[in-house]
Amino acid sequence: LQAKRRSKMGISDVVVNELKIDPAFVLSPEFRPKPVEVLKELDGIPVIDLAPLLANDEKGTQIIVEQIAKASEEWGFFQLINHGIPIKLLDDVEVEALKFFSLPLEEKRKIRRTLEHPLGYFDTELTQNVRDWKEVFDFVTRGKLEFAAADGTLNVQENKWPESPPFLKDVCEAWKEATLGVAYKILELLTLSLGLPATYFNPLFDKEDTNFMRLNYYPPCPAPDLVLGVSGHKDSGALTVLVQDEVGGLEVRRKDGEWIRVKPRRDALIINVGDLFQVWSNDRYKSVEHRVVVNEHKERSSIPLFINPSNATNVFPIPELLDAQHPPKYRQYNWGDFLQALKTSHFKNMRVENIQI
Ligand code: SIN
Ligand code: FE2
Repeated sequence: LQAKRRSKMGISDVVVNELKIDPAFVLSPEFRPKPVEVLKELDGIPVIDLAPLLANDEKGTQIIVEQIAKASEEWGFFQLINHGIPIKLLDDVEVEALKFFSLPLEEKRKIRRTLEHPLGYFDTELTQNVRDWKEVFDFVTRGKLEFAAADGTLNVQENKWPESPPFLKDVCEAWKEATLGVAYKILELLTLSLGLPATYFNPLFDKEDTNFMRLNYYPPCPAPDLVLGVSGHKDSGALTVLVQDEVGGLEVRRKDGEWIRVKPRRDALIINVGDLFQVWSNDRYKSVEHRVVVNEHKERSSIPLFINPSNATNVFPIPELLDAQHPPKYRQYNWGDFLQALKTSHFKNMRVENIQI
């Protein structure tokens, strides 16, 4: 039965040997998840009600901006409710995504991600050099991806959609449109919350953004205490808009170092601030570490949308936020170069912490 479950999981390299799993997935003890009882009491990710924004209530929106500032300083994470996106759109994506991930591995690998075409299906992601217990499907929100190939020429690739299930593309695009609207609204509110004009960063995203959306599928795992669905990491872009299903498993590193489980809320979008806001804000906002715990009996899904600027973007602390008491903490770097290096270096040295002055 176990072997059957595993072959359905799609992760091919699991060694079927009673309670053992492929050592490529096994974390060193200090990185392993905590037993769930320890986490029970802890839930503190701020919840922000967007209703006043949708009602064009100016005073209410000002309060939202203050809430966003506080959450971004203290947590780097917050949840949005009353965001206006029909949950039906999410139900549809989850159903189609599950159909896709339930296909035989050979089917999924027909749209496998490669170095030359880094979109589509992928089941061998490493975070911190350990294999994540997950499968993913990536697509870019603009429909095509432009990046420098190994020989320096410009490589342009279009999204790879599977033949089956036939509606995956349509439901993903509907969810994408809806969440992009909220994401850009939040980008503006985050910008305002730093004391900058709301549209200050918009030119970096107009037309040439490098946004992408990901379907995450975390199969049940026979040894959930030894692995993670995604190891501790920070997101490198501007911000991430995430939904998780009711199984739960996302954990966020609190300021005091404690891992906090984010309680699933069907009605909430989870937002986190990425490395770009950490650098732009010169450390006022922190890109916070997070990870995913998997489950022995249940599969889990989540859908992040990563809001990233154009490849040409040079990233540096915003001069308007600097003065003699607040000198810049980071050197300038180029977003496209950074992304490219991230892909080829297995994350090792590609952290904004490494470009600190
Ligand atoms: C991620 O941070 O990469 C995934 C988050 C999740 O699955 O909840
Ligand atoms: Fe992440």
